[in-house]
Amino acid sequence: MSVYFTSQSTLHVGIIMDGNGRWALARGLPRAAGHRAGVETVGRIVEAAPPAGIGILTLFAFSSDNWRRPAAEVEALMRLLAIYMAKETPRCVEQGVRLEVIGRRDRLATGLCAAISRVEAATAHGSRLRLRIAVDYSARDAILAAARGASELSLDSLGTALGPPVDLLIRTGGERRLSDFLLWECAYAELVFTRTMWPDFGAQDLAAAVREFRGRERRFGAVPEAPVRLREAWLD
Ligand code: IPE
Ligand code: IPE
Ligand code: MG
Repeated sequence: MSVYFTSQSTLHVGIIMDGNGRWALARGLPRAAGHRAGVETVGRIVEAAPPAGIGILTLFAFSSDNWRRPAAEVEALMRLLAIYMAKETPRCVEQGVRLEVIGRRDRLATGLCAAISRVEAATAHGSRLRLRIAVDYSARDAILAAARGASELSLDSLGTALGPPVDLLIRTGGERRLSDFLLWECAYAELVFTRTMWPDFGAQDLAAAVREFRGRERRFGAVPEAPVRLREAWLD
């Protein structure tokens, strides 16, 4: 239990990067232009994460349900992901970023898989920020896979197989739902929803979300610390 109460120096922040399409349509642009602008935002937010106190950043880039979009949009997204993975190594190495991709690989093009493996290997020693990008990701699939692969079913074994718990979950774009992202890991995450569309989200917005998180009291099912102390004093 006590692990829940240790104050963490660096946070695990998850972001559902939503609103690219609406951002583009509002400007009379094709949805793909919104996705291109969204990639620029990723660069800014990755750079802003360590100074904001973030040690692990998990970004939702493509959900397993996003395959249901029109083929042209899926192609545009896959092309952007391939370009990002191919180009990102020098910047990650320079910034001390370790990049990992979570989600299924078996439905991705071989070229994209190869680019992912290359950037993962080249950035493996980055220690300033662990950047996890979720591609063809479904939290429910991940939980099933973890359960299938576990030698014994326990909170610890599934938690270890899935990944670190999320402290703060941000969703841009105005919707207030999780859309199958990190469902297990968000068991006690603080949720911050913002109307800002992902292409407009900046370092200031990230810092504001972290401030909002720091102002909240996480209780993990227990009672608030101050009243506990008061009650103990009274019992003495
Ligand atoms: C998020 O933006 C990017 C992906 C889901 C791939 P959307 O494409 O969902 O943008 P909206 O929600 O339609 O505006
Ligand atoms: C969630 O956004 C997935 C990503 C941001 C990659 P969606 O736009 O796909 O989610 P819904 O359809 O609004 O729930
Ligand atoms: Mg959306």
